[in-house]
Amino acid sequence: MTTSFPPGFLWGSATAAAQIEGAAFDDGKQASIWDTFSRLPGAVLNGDTPDVAVDHYHRMPADVALMKQLGLQSYRFSTSWARIRPGDDAVNPAGLDFYSRLVDELLGAGILPWLTLYHWDLPQALEEKGGWANRDTAYRFAEYAEIVHGVLGDRVSHWTTFNEPFCSSLLGYASGVHAPGRQEPAAAVAAVHHQHLAHGLAVQRLRDLGAEEIGITLNLTNAIPANPSDPADADAARRLDALNNRIFLDPLLRGEYPADIRHDLAEFGLDEVDDTALVRPGDLEIIAQRLDFLGVNHYHDDMVSGHPIPAPADPSVVPVDPHAVAGGRAVRSPFVGSEHITFPLRGLPLTGMGWEVNPAGLRTLLVRLGREYPNLPPLYVTENGAAYDDTVSTEHDGTAGGDIEAVHDTQRTQYILDHIQAVSDAIADGADVRGYFVWSLLDNYEWAWGYGKRFGIVRVDYDTLVRTPKDSALAYAEVIAGGAGAI
Ligand code: NOJ
Repeated sequence: MTTSFPPGFLWGSATAAAQIEGAAFDDGKQASIWDTFSRLPGAVLNGDTPDVAVDHYHRMPADVALMKQLGLQSYRFSTSWARIRPGDDAVNPAGLDFYSRLVDELLGAGILPWLTLYHWDLPQALEEKGGWANRDTAYRFAEYAEIVHGVLGDRVSHWTTFNEPFCSSLLGYASGVHAPGRQEPAAAVAAVHHQHLAHGLAVQRLRDLGAEEIGITLNLTNAIPANPSDPADADAARRLDALNNRIFLDPLLRGEYPADIRHDLAEFGLDEVDDTALVRPGDLEIIAQRLDFLGVNHYHDDMVSGHPIPAPADPSVVPVDPHAVAGGRAVRSPFVGSEHITFPLRGLPLTGMGWEVNPAGLRTLLVRLGREYPNLPPLYVTENGAAYDDTVSTEHDGTAGGDIEAVHDTQRTQYILDHIQAVSDAIADGADVRGYFVWSLLDNYEWAWGYGKRFGIVRVDYDTLVRTPKDSALAYAEVIAGGAGAI
């Protein structure tokens, strides 16, 4: 394998507030929608809540020391709106202080802070006022962005408005598998538009305030028709591409919702611009602010079919994929009549999420974006990684020190190295990719899966909260240290 990365290529790892911080009700923080949703019976596997997570809130300096030990050049984290402005009212100085200390700790360790303002944890107080279905939430978001910038803007250069708005709008408000767990298609379309508006308003505000680099992170997929010559499959691929990719990319980069989406979602108001409609005059200009970068999260492609999948002979062998199921449910909702989108498997290896492993898909995606969007800003792979069922082995380290624990996560290691190779290949093909962030630094709260899926390159023992770098962390540290050609 030969890899080649441009000078200054940024190597990092990513987390999100609700997934790692814990301290869910400490120091003035109030409930986010995930604190509330996770308490609904059956919403999250095993009823797991983010209450403690991996207790990063109390272990932050040690976690930053670990990042330094691994040689991370950047750390992508999110701020918790419910910690900073808990009840949609007064600002909580203790919440801001935590992030201020985190940023200082990172800078002290020579690590670039890469801040995301929204990684799915809306204050519950705002959900009670309608959440993202309420246009006012967009204006609240811009205020929150200004509050965070007011405290961190002197030290943070890289600002991401939203992480994967697909999930926080469509999975949260249409399929209901994510917080706030609503199954209301009209609210979901409103959430998409209001998150776009919130993004645009925040970009304007942050840029006015002098933020250097501003972008957004999208989860993008290659929607591959199972049989391209089958009209139902081809249309399923079009619809998935529409709802997963273009409903976000086009307004952000072209200032318009695509014609097919406006048509499909006309009954929810996406096809008109009016003073009293969902889309108001001037909204699309606000949304299409210049971006300094586009974050791409990618884990797997989606082969899709417009036909129902026959029930398997043995249901236990079919991996359950909440994203696929959720996506399927979202697009089978009244959005597009009763037509199906299903996700046949192609016989590729699967991760512990049941997601197909296909590094070539990442290369295709990164190259394709540049071709389809000529004004594309520089790209960063802001998430890529894999969950597997890890095994901990206890080994003697050969010294009087005694036993040490190790996690030989060969599949995750290979997954990460192969995807790094794919990024290098995409760059060779002409994609302007400037960095790569592994998801995730630490095992953490995997949303509807609770603590049941482990994505970390560092293991967390959920009983003791002890951190143990897995082999993947050590391999990634070598890649960072070696730079180009290290794989
Ligand atoms: C994307 C999300 O941003 C992150 O929060 C999640 O844990 C990973 N994908 C893995 O599912």
